[in-house]
Parts: sequence; structure tokens; C-alpha cells
Amino acid sequence: MRADIERILIDEEIIEKRLDRMAEEIGRDFPQGNLLAIILLKGALVFAADLLRRVPRQLELECLNVSSYHGGLESSGTVKFLDRSFPEVRGRHVLLLDDILDTGRTLHAVAERLRAEGAQAVHTCVLLAKDRPRDQEVAADYTGFVIGDEFVVGYGLDYRGRYRNLPYVGVLTREAIEREPGA
Ligand code: XMP
Repeated sequence: MRADIERILIDEEIIEKRLDRMAEEIGRDFPQGNLLAIILLKGALVFAADLLRRVPRQLELECLNVSSYHGGLESSGTVKFLDRSFPEVRGRHVLLLDDILDTGRTLHAVAERLRAEGAQAVHTCVLLAKDRPRDQEVAADYTGFVIGDEFVVGYGLDYRGRYRNLPYVGVLTREAIEREPGA
């Protein structure tokens, strides 16, 4: 897999240090109450597992399966909720975790749905935010790293289902992108 990576953007050690700080901050901001962490699958799985284990407070955990990329390099523009049921969020303080803020459509759509379902407050947390203009005015409450406007993989993020288990965030070689059928 390493041969397919042109450049490591954020290595394991830097991710770990940043997660320590983010978890501390989250622990401070939510000293008590009824925090419910919601992980957006599959991209935020690795990030959330590492972050939430560091948060020094009690919380409950739910996952939501949404899709906005459909496996390629560009966001499809529509957010689909793939689960049959939706978690009970009425009256809860939700910490919504996603891997990356790109166009912002995913976080915006999910946060809106959570509010419509009666969540008392929705706080958003992403590992990465792309430095680009967004049509939706969304900023995450907690951001691990701001990166350039380029396609990245690893640490949960995929290209056509692969590379999620890389322990770092990196940029694919052109060859690796073009090798995939349909690229
Ligand atoms: P939006 O545009 O809704 O996108 O903010 C968020 C979702 O799109 C996926 N995404 C990426 N996935 N590398 C990926 O592997 C990327 O560079 C990338 N940019 C966006 C991701 O699933 C995220 O939840």
C-alpha cells in the first residue's frame, strides 16, 4: 500500500498528539450532561475510535451510515441515510464525528436531521477540514487539521473502499488512482 502513496501528509505521531489535545478540549467543554457521540461510517470510524478513547468523561455511542462520495474522488452532492433506523437523539447533546469537511454538505445535512429529530444541541468534530470555499456555511466545532484542497486517503479515508487502514493521512499517486476501474 505504501507504494501507492505519493506523499504522507500527516503521520501517526502528529495525529496522536493532536487527538490528545482535542480529547482534552472536548472533556473540558462537556464536563457533565448527556453527551451522545455519533460516528459517521465508515470514514470517521478510525478517527473516532482513537479520539473517543481519550475523552476523559462518560458518553454514549451511536453510528450512522451515510454516503455522499460513492467511492470516487468527488462528492456526489447528495447525502443518503443508509440505515433503516435513526438513533434516539431527543434532548441529547450530540457530538457528531466525521472524517473530513469538504463541501460541508454531509455535516450540514446530518446536523439538520439531528436537530429535526429533537437533539438539544449538535456539536461537530472532524479530523480534517479542506481549505476551500463552501457553498454551505458550515464550520466544525472541533477540527484536527486544516489541509489543502486535495484528495486524501488513510486513517479511515478511502479511495474506492481501499486504504482506510493506513495509519497516516496521505495523497495517492496518479498511477494508483488511474489503476482503479472507472477512475
Ligand atoms: P462533504 O463534501 O459533504 O464531504 O463535506 C464529506 C465526505 O466526503 C468524503 N470525502 C473524502 N473522502 N478523501 C476521501 O477519502 C477525501 O479527500 C475526501 N473528501 C471528502 C468523506 O467521506 C466525507 O465524509
